[in-house]
Order: sequence, then C-alpha cells, then structure tokens
Amino acid sequence: MSAPEGDKIEKLINPIETYPPSPEFIDGTKIPADIRERAAADRLAFWADQARELEWETPFTEVLDWSNPPFAKWFADGKLNVAVNCVDRHVHAGRGDKVAIHWIGEPGDTRTITYNDLYAEVQRAANMLEDLGIKAGDVVTLYLPMLPETIFAMLACARIGATHSVIFGGFSASAIRSRVDNANARLIITADGSLRKGRQFPLKETVDEALAEPGHTIEKVIVIKRAEKDIEMIEGRDLWWHDTIATAAETHEPQAFDAEHPLFILHTSGTTGAPKGLWHSSGGYLTQTAFTFRTSFDLRDDDVFWCSADVGWVTGHSYIAYGPLANGATQVMYEGAHDFPTLDRWFEIIEQYKVTTFYTAPTAIRGYMKSGREIPLRHDLSSIRLLGSVGEPINPEAWEWFREVIGADRTPVVDTWWQTETGSHMIAPIPTLDALKPGSGQKPVPGISVEVIDEQGNRVDPGEMGLLTITEPWPSMARGIWGDDQRFIETYWSQYPGRYFAGDGAGVDLDGDLWLLGRVDDVMNVSGHRLSTAEIESALVDHDLVAESAVIGAADETTGQAVVSFVVLKDSQREAAAQVDVEAELRGFVAKRIGAIARPRQVFVVAELPKTRSGKIMRRLLKNVADGKPAGDTSTLTDASVMDAIEQQVLARH
Ligand code: WTA
Repeated sequence: MSAPEGDKIEKLINPIETYPPSPEFIDGTKIPADIRERAAADRLAFWADQARELEWETPFTEVLDWSNPPFAKWFADGKLNVAVNCVDRHVHAGRGDKVAIHWIGEPGDTRTITYNDLYAEVQRAANMLEDLGIKAGDVVTLYLPMLPETIFAMLACARIGATHSVIFGGFSASAIRSRVDNANARLIITADGSLRKGRQFPLKETVDEALAEPGHTIEKVIVIKRAEKDIEMIEGRDLWWHDTIATAAETHEPQAFDAEHPLFILHTSGTTGAPKGLWHSSGGYLTQTAFTFRTSFDLRDDDVFWCSADVGWVTGHSYIAYGPLANGATQVMYEGAHDFPTLDRWFEIIEQYKVTTFYTAPTAIRGYMKSGREIPLRHDLSSIRLLGSVGEPINPEAWEWFREVIGADRTPVVDTWWQTETGSHMIAPIPTLDALKPGSGQKPVPGISVEVIDEQGNRVDPGEMGLLTITEPWPSMARGIWGDDQRFIETYWSQYPGRYFAGDGAGVDLDGDLWLLGRVDDVMNVSGHRLSTAEIESALVDHDLVAESAVIGAADETTGQAVVSFVVLKDSQREAAAQVDVEAELRGFVAKRIGAIARPRQVFVVAELPKTRSGKIMRRLLKNVADGKPAGDTSTLTDASVMDAIEQQVLARH
C-alpha cells in the first residue's frame, strides 16, 4: 500500500483561516467543554458512560473484551433492545407526541410520524414478522425505497432480534441474490416500485429475478405498495404489507438481547472479490452511533435534522435510522431526487420544515456550486444552524461555499470521516469546541485512537501524509465479515499488525489536525458511493466480447471520481464487436450486473493493457492518463508503447 501523493502538503504546513464557534452557537449546548479530556483520561470509562445513556434491561459490568483481537466485544454481559431504545423509551418518558419523522414523498405527499406513531407501527410490524415465523437470529433482507415503512421494518427486525440486511434500491438482481445467499436470509421486504424523478422503477420485479433460480433461502416476500405498479404476486410466497400487517396484533412485548447480538449486515465493496457483508452489534453500535449523532451535530431538543443519504448505505443506517431515533430527535426523510421537479427541491424542504441541521455529501455541494448559488439563495434557509459533510473528501472550496451560501456565512460545517466498517463517526470536529478548518476532519471522536503512519508502520510527523490507522477497538466497529472471520482479519488487520487499516490516506498538519485524502487502495468513491475496481472488472470480463479489463476511478469535478474502464476484446469476437456499439453495450452490462451507480462513465477499447513483466496491470498509469496527466514512469512495463497508444485514445476523447 503506498502513501498518498499530490499537492495536499500545502495545507498541512501553511496556516489557514479557521472559523471558531460563535458564542451564540455555543449557547445552550449539552456538550461538556472537557469532553476530550474526560475521554482521554479513561477511554473505557468514557464509553461506559456513553453506553449508560441507553436503556439496558440488564446493565453491563464489563466494558470491553479484547481477548480475541480483532473480534471485539463491548458491554458483552449487558442486555438491551435496540428498538426499545429508539422508540419505546421516548414514549415512556412522555415524549410520544414529538415528531420522529417528517416524511416527504417525491410526488409531494407527506406523512408526519410521531414517536407514538412509530411505537404503534413498529409493534405491529414486529408482530407481523413473528406471525410469519421470523425469530431472533434470522436474517431479513430489505430492498426498499425511502419510505417510513423502511424505518418501521428495520426497527421491527431489531425489536424481535432479527438481523436486517438492507440492499440499496439501485442494486441489480444479481447483487440482491449474492447478498441474500451470503446472509441466508429467510424473508425479503420490498415495494411494488420506487418513485424517482417522476418515474417508476421496478423493485419487486428485480426481487423476482433475483429469486428466479432455485437454491435460495427466501420463504416469503412482503411487498409494500408505493408505486401502484402492476406486479405479479406469487401465490404462497408473496404477501402485501398492508394486508398482512392488518391482521397483526397491536402490542408487542419486547425482549432484551445480548449487547453483541447482530443488529444488521451491510454489504460494501472492497478491493477484491465479492462485496463483504460487514455485521454490526447492538449495544456497542448504538452507543457510538447515538453519541456521535448528538456530539458531531451538537444536538438540541428542538433541532430538525436532515440527512440526505439513502437508508441503503451506512450513512442512512446510522444517521437516519439509529442515531436520530436513539436520541429522540426530529428528522426529515425525503423519498426522492434532489432535482425533482427542479433543483430547488432540497431548499424548499429546508425552508418548509425549518431544518436546523443538514448532513449531505460533497458531490451534492459541488453540483449546486456548478448550477449556481441563486438556486439556494431564493429560499429562506435561516433555520440552518449546522451543516455536515460525509462520504468523500470535501475540498476547501466546496466547504467554504457550503458554509457561505447554505450556512449564511455563519454556520459551522463538520466534516465527518467514517466507513461502513466503523459504524459511526470516527473523525470529526466538535462544533462547539473547535475552530473549524475548511476541508479538514480535524480530530478523532472522543474515545477514538487514530494514528497516521508511513508504509513501515511509523507514525508520520506533523506536516506529512501517510496511511490512516485506528489503534484501539471502538464500540461501533464491525464485529466481522458475515461468515468469514478470516477475511475480516486479512482485509483490515493484517497489513499493520495490531492496527485497523482503513484503506484511506490522511495528512497531519502542524497543529496535529487530520486531513482525509481518500482511498489509497482499489476502492473508488463515486458521488460518495463505494465501488470496487475489481468487482467492475470482473463484471466486464463476464461479457462475451471482453477478454481483459482494467477499471480506475478518474478524477471528476462533481462526483469526486468516475468509473473509467479499459477493455481488450477477445480476438474471436472481433466480428461480433463490429456489429454493436461496444461502449454502450458494456456500460449497460455493468449497470445491469451491479447497478446503475457502477455504470462506467467511459469504456475505452484498447489493444493491450499496460502490464509489468510479472503481469500486473498498472492501473496507476491508466488513472494518470484518464485524469489528463502524463502517464508517469512506464519503465517497468513489458511494452511501453502500449501506454502511448492508450494516451492517444484518451486524448482524442477529451
Ligand atoms: C470515504 C461512508 C474523506 C473514505 C460513511 C472511506 C471520506 C469511505 C469521508 C467509506 C470524509 C467517507 N472525508 N473521505 N469525511 N467519509 N469517506 O463505507 O474513503 O460507504 O473509506 O461509508 O468513504 O465509505 P462507506
């Protein structure tokens, strides 16, 4: 793994303008001013205190069991129910009338869900699942749009101890099938379709296609009506949510589960092979997710939080489903696209619901920078108190624009670094304590130990760049890769023994603040979505025409990176290839195989791929060329002229 290269060093050694918190902003905060000191004084006691903010049926006596690294156990002898923590306890504390979710459908329909409503819905959904024979330890797959029922279903699973496995609604049938098989899921909850940009997209049909081949473990498919789309219901297997829930009992007695009980599995892309099903615990996950939600966003009682992510990604799990609800917060949940019917949509929502805290991705910010500040500025955004960024490195220009235009030149912007594997925020400034630096994640979350190291494993000096590692276990860390402990060890814990290696590069500035620099491995980040070069390459070579492929994440002004692929066609297929538009065919093929988010921006058909004498594809050279830079050192290639030819081809397209 090589350390990141580039021009970031400037920021690490030069002083920049910072934004200290204003007295008005700090006023009334619940974040103790000495929170970092407390965490540093006794890390485990600090996390135990945070865990005790939850409601435990059986209190824990042990904080951390790290006797079998890297498999951590947190609060292991305690028992709790995650859904009770997210719903019942707020109702029992007399906060049932508070709005949990202001839901906004893309066509403009809305629903207001109080904690009382959530309590009623989750109990009935839990009974429905139990009536269907689902019990603790079973896996339930969710393939759903952003509906209130999506949250009800997640919490209903948590309530009965079933482990949910949410699959982003844009993934393909084969992606669903591999995830269902990997988790041995017994039930799928889906919808008749999803609504996006005024169009209907199939979900149920995609599930049918995923289940067409026998040999899977799914017994029932529950279908939520949303798109009013004509679909086929398979007798004996498929059930409508509204029919089934209508016969479920209204009250449900919750049972407590071990803190280490698996709450969910979430698949994500890695450097090699099939997506990994990371699994998360109950007590530790909820502790850190709830803590970071209230701390990074400086939660206040009357906040209206909005996270624009999809529940199909970890951001939606932790900062739509669990973080806000565990804290009894009010949030906005929006079903559709930011630009439907116009680019004003998000700002209309902020204005109408008086959103105080808006959490989104740099891609969206850069997109709006391009379309112009007049769009947000024609709305009253004065309710906004705090802005957050997640998913990819935020460039200082985007950070400044976000603060100035959306945040009225007044609000803090917190950049939050974390991963599916980490479960919740790991690096983020504390907006009431820190003078913010545009583009920097700044400090580890209290109770988290981070070190930036060089390739030999030595800590880098201030002003330098290196690899981001985490040196101590943390409560919301993934407990493993579902069914593959060995892969968990190899993927994350073996490059630098004793440390978790995230796959990201980072720099440390002269103040000791952290700058996140993106992936240093073969994982791409397109619009904040994680994609694996290896997975797309293997999809491409599954196509009849393709002999070899190389995929890289090329720099893209808006989406951060874009998928660019280079393919060599099979000699035997030259004639067949001449009959079709190869680029369109292959772009479509990848979208069908994996999902539209993986569709390459470009496909270059090349004569040969650049390889070393040992046969290794030099993706770095391809990336340089796709980024419009010189290819770089081609001396290790078997045939340096290969890169010249590719450079000509790429240049011809620019
Ligand atoms: C990247 C999303 C820079 C990073 C929460 C990480 C970031 C990957 C940031 C995880 C950030 C996420 N600054 N890079 N604030 N947040 N990343 O699992 O490369 O979908 O490894 O989790 O996104 O992506 P994942």
